[in-house]
Amino acid sequence: MSKNILIIPGDGIGQEVTTWGKNVLEAVADKHGHSFQFDEGIMGHVAIEETGSPLPEETLEKAKESDAILFGAIGHAKYDNDPHAKVRPEQGLLKIRKELGLYANLRPILLFDELLEASSLKPEILKGTDILFFRELTGDVYFGEKNKAEDGSFASDLMNYHRYEVERIAHKAFEAARHRSKKLCSVDKANVLETSRLWRDVVQEIAKQYPDVEVEHMFIDNAAMQLVKNPRKFDVVLTANLFGDILTDEASQIAGSMGMLASASVGDGTGFYEPIHGSAHDIAGQDKANPLASILSAALLLDIGLGLVEEAEEVRDAVAHTLKEGWRTIDIANNATPEEKKIGTKQMGEFVLEQLKK
Ligand code: IPM
Ligand code: MG
Repeated sequence: MSKNILIIPGDGIGQEVTTWGKNVLEAVADKHGHSFQFDEGIMGHVAIEETGSPLPEETLEKAKESDAILFGAIGHAKYDNDPHAKVRPEQGLLKIRKELGLYANLRPILLFDELLEASSLKPEILKGTDILFFRELTGDVYFGEKNKAEDGSFASDLMNYHRYEVERIAHKAFEAARHRSKKLCSVDKANVLETSRLWRDVVQEIAKQYPDVEVEHMFIDNAAMQLVKNPRKFDVVLTANLFGDILTDEASQIAGSMGMLASASVGDGTGFYEPIHGSAHDIAGQDKANPLASILSAALLLDIGLGLVEEAEEVRDAVAHTLKEGWRTIDIANNATPEEKKIGTKQMGEFVLEQLKK
């Protein structure tokens, strides 16, 4: 198979971790006789510094022409504490999601048994958890009209959804549920929000086309609580952009760390594969970041993006083996297991590569 893959490392630890996602893709290509051509693009703070724009036209063009995109992270502390900044790194990510029509963000909560002790939640609560989130990604309050009074006394972000936006992601989630345990939980705030009542109406309508899937509707506040009380009760979770953003950060603690969670953003064209974590400038460039979310994002690129299911499984197995041997970056180390060995970004990446090449 011959494919063009665009690498967008982005900001902060994005640079370090994406190196390993890319190395893994190269190793897979070598091993299986595929030919991946890599190109690189800039986005976020690095792009603002270089061009003034968080998403330069050149990066967008390269993205549209590629077969798949592996992205790192976005953001810089400098903007977080400056509410008046006109240009922000995150605008680049939101724009590329919109431009590429990436309306469905799949976030699997993949729990490795070796990391049961790394979570702050009790292992007996976590064991056996396997959740697949479908977060809507190009609508909601993220993209609604924004307003701000000149004198700074008022601001608003419009939360809105069109029926078709809910329909298309609902279909994706129902299809997935069909191939998993045939259970789907739709999360909204229909007791308060008009957008959520539309959401629920559409999901109920679409559910009729999937009579084999058992549907539950849950309010976001309750879902946030149930997720840590009994995560095993969830399988496919379907939710809106903002709720999904918050709920998946919470769910990352089930997997032990934000540094473990990969995601696939898909929709109309080229897919975009990215860790759910941020740019973590506090540890950037110090060989401390966990490269596994990027490596697992590369695995999603392989199976969801390119249909290379076996190759993706090999990557996940290589990660599992590395963890089994006790290797831990600091975010997943908990000092509870005597055989645990703390290492940095580079070594973790190298060990996974070693396993993969076996
Ligand atoms: C995510 C991130 C982004 C989001 C930010 C960086 C804009 O938190 O992918 O979850 O809110 O969608
Ligand atoms: Mg987020």
